[in-house]
Amino acid sequence: MSTILITGWLGYIWSHAAVVFAQKWYDIVIIDNLSNTNLSVLEKLTTLIGKFTWRSRQPKFYQIDLKNTEEVRKVFHENKIDGVIHFAAFKAVEESCEDPFKYYENNISGGVSLYKVMNEFWIKNIVFSSSCTVYDTMNVTPPYDEQTPKKTINPYGSTKRMSEIILEDLSTHKGFNTILLRYFNPIGAHPSGLIGENPKGIPNNLLPYIYKVATGEYEFLNVRGNDYPTPDGTCIRDYLHVMDLAEAHVLAYEYLQKNKKFIPSSAGPEWFLDVFNLGTGQGTSVLEMIQLTEKAIDKKITYKIWPRRPWDAPTVYANPSKANTILGRKTQRTISEAIQDGWRFITKNNS
Ligand code: WQD
Repeated sequence: MSTILITGWLGYIWSHAAVVFAQKWYDIVIIDNLSNTNLSVLEKLTTLIGKFTWRSRQPKFYQIDLKNTEEVRKVFHENKIDGVIHFAAFKAVEESCEDPFKYYENNISGGVSLYKVMNEFWIKNIVFSSSCTVYDTMNVTPPYDEQTPKKTINPYGSTKRMSEIILEDLSTHKGFNTILLRYFNPIGAHPSGLIGENPKGIPNNLLPYIYKVATGEYEFLNVRGNDYPTPDGTCIRDYLHVMDLAEAHVLAYEYLQKNKKFIPSSAGPEWFLDVFNLGTGQGTSVLEMIQLTEKAIDKKITYKIWPRRPWDAPTVYANPSKANTILGRKTQRTISEAIQDGWRFITKNNS
């Protein structure tokens, strides 16, 4: 069976993808420097993967920083890797504005180090974790498809767009077979409650913050602006279950395997690159998310209206039809299921 390398950060998206790939009998090698997650994620992953594979197929883990190219080379020397799912990146929009250099060094330099080693080992299949923040969300009205004009307004989104451009270059000039996946707003957790999102410190994202109000850790949620040009005045986003997102990565990798170019050929381009939005196509406002959460977990969520965040666009949601048609994916889980699954993880890990 194929061996894939998963590069991780934060522990959220990649851990869910690792479970789904393992369920499809891929052998998995993981690189994470654990600066934003901890070994407990790996223990829980081992438990989850152990439910449907025998011991020998447990993921191999390397605690290294992608910017350490020599260490990355060691991983490629020790494992016969067929392809890479590259998640590792910081993703807090506000933090990226405060410390852009941290984002350029980590998200760009870390990626370049990885791509360089891939090229040295002639391993050229990559699925890249990109973002809807590459789109010109301030000037273009949704729904956003893959041809929507792009314009980034914060260093986080810029690092995602710059990474896309680097991979476009490597596809054209070095024969990389590349899939770019542009995420909208992933939420929720694996239904077991063993893995999920529980960021250290004050959460940047909406649902993790709401959960902290639900547990009583915070007194109220700051609703960042209720004077937007939307039905209830609060921002609208496209929230998708992290398991739907994870499953789309397997479909994307299988699509890449079917369409990749092995060697320069006369028939068509000597490289392969495609891009897909991963969203539901449905927009949900902040106030609607509060109401959905109160109903899903039977907790009162107190909130206060606070000033807008400068980088927030009023409405962002996907046109998901390309991924649905070509990858054969579809939204399997509701927002309420995602909220309940995420809450199960929070309550299991707060006890
Ligand atoms: C959602 C809405 C806020 C917190 C995310 C990720 C980014 C990218 C795109 C993948 C906004 C409001 C939030 C709070 C609030 N995903 N909000 N109070 O900004 O769409 O970005 O999706 O690459 O990585 O960060 O999501 O969850 O930060 O905010 O009112 O305490 O909730 O104003 O309208 P966003 P978010």
